[in-house]
Amino acid sequence: MAVGIFDSGLGGLTVLDAAQKRLPDVDFLYYGDNSHAPYGVRDAEDIYQLTHKAVHDMWDRGCNLVILACNTASAAALRRMQEAGVPEGKRVLGVFVPLIEALTERQWGDNSPPREVAVKHVALFATPATVASRAFQRELAFRAIGVDVEAQACGGVVDAIEDGDMILAEALVKSHVDALLRKMPRPEAAILGCTHYPLMEDIFQKALGPDVQVFSQGRLVADSLAHYLERRPEMIGGGAAGYLTTGNAGRVSSRATQFLRREITFEAA
Ligand code: DGL
Repeated sequence: MAVGIFDSGLGGLTVLDAAQKRLPDVDFLYYGDNSHAPYGVRDAEDIYQLTHKAVHDMWDRGCNLVILACNTASAAALRRMQEAGVPEGKRVLGVFVPLIEALTERQWGDNSPPREVAVKHVALFATPATVASRAFQRELAFRAIGVDVEAQACGGVVDAIEDGDMILAEALVKSHVDALLRKMPRPEAAILGCTHYPLMEDIFQKALGPDVQVFSQGRLVADSLAHYLERRPEMIGGGAAGYLTTGNAGRVSSRATQFLRREITFEAA
C-alpha cells in the first residue's frame, strides 16, 4: 500500500518528509529520476516524456496516486498527462495548487471566482522551465486579481544541490535573490517554486529579510494530500513502499540521508 511521490531528483524528499510526518500510517514509494536531473533546463516535450515514463512505472508497481513533487514536471507534464487520460483507478496530481490556495487564503478545493487578496507583490523562485511555462501565474490568475508576480529563474541551483555542492548552491541562491530584489525591491511574499529549494530555505529567508513571508510546499502539499486521502482512501493504492532512483543508488542514498538527517536507502528503479 503506497502513495507515489515523484521528482526529477532529491527535491521531492522535502514533500515526502512532510507527508510522512503528516500521515505516519501511510506508506510512500519515492521515485527520483536522478540520472535525468535537472529537468529545469530541458524542453517541455523532454520533461513530459520523462515524467510520463516514471509515473507509468509507479502505477505499474501498484501506486494508484502519484504526486508530482516537482514543479517543473507539474508545469510541463501534468495537464498533458491528465488530458491524455489516465488508466482507470489511477490519478496523478501536482504541487502548484496547495501553494496557491495558501497564498490566496483559500480553503482546499475552493473554486470560486478570482478575488482580491492581501498579498500584492510576490516573488517567484523556480527553475527556468517552470518560469518559462508561466503555469504558476496561470493558476494564480484563476484565484486572485491584482497580484504582481516577479519570477526569477534560478539556473544552477538544482544541479548544485544534486551534486551535494551546498556552498555553490548558497552562493547561487544569494545572487538569484539579489537579482529578484533589483526587479521587485519589496515583495511581501516569496514562493519557493521548486521542491529542491526548501533545502535552502534559511538562505532564501536570510537573503530576502525577515519581512518577506516565504512559502514552501512540503507542509502545504502534505495537508492537501491528507484531505484528499480522507475522501478517497482507495487512492492509497497497493504495491511496495521504498525509495527508487534512476541514478547511482549509493550516491543518492547518502545525499538523501544527509538532507533528511535519517538513514534513507535507495534502490535502482
Ligand atoms: N524539484 C524540481 C522542481 O520542483 C526540480 C526540477 C529540476 O530537476 O530542475 O521543479
